[in-house]
Amino acid sequence: MTWAPYGAHWRQARKIYLTEIFSPKRLDSFEYIRLEEGRALISRLFPLSGKPVLLKDHLPRFTLRTISRLVMSDKYYSDASSIITLETLQQMLDEWFILGGVINIGDWIPWLSWFDLQGYVKQMKTLGKNFKEFLKYVIEDHKAIKRQIEEDYVPKDMVDTLLHLADDPNLEVKLTSDRLMGLIHDLIAGATDTSAATIEWAFQELLRRPNIIDKAHQELDRAIGRERWVEEEDFSKLPYIDAIIKETFRLHPLCALLPPHYSIENCNVAGYDIPKGTIAHVNAWSLGRNSKYWDRAEEFIPERFIENNIDIKGQNFALLPFGSGRRRCPGYSLGMKVVRTTMANLLHGFNWKLAGDTKPEDISMEEIYGLTIHPKKPISLIMEPRLPLHLY
Ligand code: HEM
Repeated sequence: MTWAPYGAHWRQARKIYLTEIFSPKRLDSFEYIRLEEGRALISRLFPLSGKPVLLKDHLPRFTLRTISRLVMSDKYYSDASSIITLETLQQMLDEWFILGGVINIGDWIPWLSWFDLQGYVKQMKTLGKNFKEFLKYVIEDHKAIKRQIEEDYVPKDMVDTLLHLADDPNLEVKLTSDRLMGLIHDLIAGATDTSAATIEWAFQELLRRPNIIDKAHQELDRAIGRERWVEEEDFSKLPYIDAIIKETFRLHPLCALLPPHYSIENCNVAGYDIPKGTIAHVNAWSLGRNSKYWDRAEEFIPERFIENNIDIKGQNFALLPFGSGRRRCPGYSLGMKVVRTTMANLLHGFNWKLAGDTKPEDISMEEIYGLTIHPKKPISLIMEPRLPLHLY
């Protein structure tokens, strides 16, 4: 769907996502999975207290586990009889994100494309084949279960929902096996890297300014207390943490350049004539750092988002972490639920400091570019629990 041109397939896919997959009711019904996986992350981190950790070794695994349980259940990678390991699935997704952002010489100088000088096309084909085999297995397995329990069948995950819809004879565009695989892949890829990298960037910034962590702790102590974890419904009580997340999106939008957009008719934008068929790249990264719209644009100041309602859903063109308009991210609500509770509980559950003799001013903000952007030099951190030990 992400790369599909505007047309019947994209319109139908988008409608399915918004009305079936990400409907508030459906997302609420999966809250227990997000909760269990959030607790599991804390339990995995707790024994590492006092030792140096890299968040990038834990967060992508956590977001992948969470989304894949929502999408297809965890049975395909959770025990010895599984067809894949979580690590392999993770590596395949990492490779997909890197290959999605590479500059392939053959795309720009077509007569060279035959030589595949950088070997990217070969890598893409191998990766595509591996993904296809895996997703095909997942679909066939879901179909087999559906056949077995025919009458008592209730969709349990997102693949079930998609298969149920695929049976609808009134669909404008038939949901073929290839289309189903694409939709499932979009869900897994769309959710894993985005949420994990946002949290990584937030910590990269917070450790440069420990006073912001102190303020977040004060808010958590006041609003939640020290006897329990933060739940999704608590979020309206945590405006400062919300401001930290928005400020992270401003300075570190995951897609620095939004995926290419294509003008479907002649139009005029800010005085410029854009002919039909033009490919437009929106630079969300530079909009967020433009001093015309933001005071002290290069500084991380969550307070700028307090007591105002600066929109991050595409209405304010100076801040577009989820894009805007018809192609805006359909996974916004799910992404925000995961980022908010995870950020809040990581802050609530632990005191954080830099490992070794690294100083806040030594933290690098250099970026690695792929389809999404990650810190080039992730920081090594030391956590100490700050809640009663029976909660971990
Ligand atoms: C922090 C979390 C997330 C961020 C920052 C994010 C960001 C984005 C951005 C910038 C776009 C491109 C919008 C445009 O072209 O203007 C996008 C599109 C998309 N996202 Fe997300 N996303 C997040 C979470 C998710 C989740 C959880 C899912 C699904 C489970 C998802 C699925 C998609 C899909 C399918 C598209 C393509 C939409 C289309 O082309 O119509 N995203 N996202």
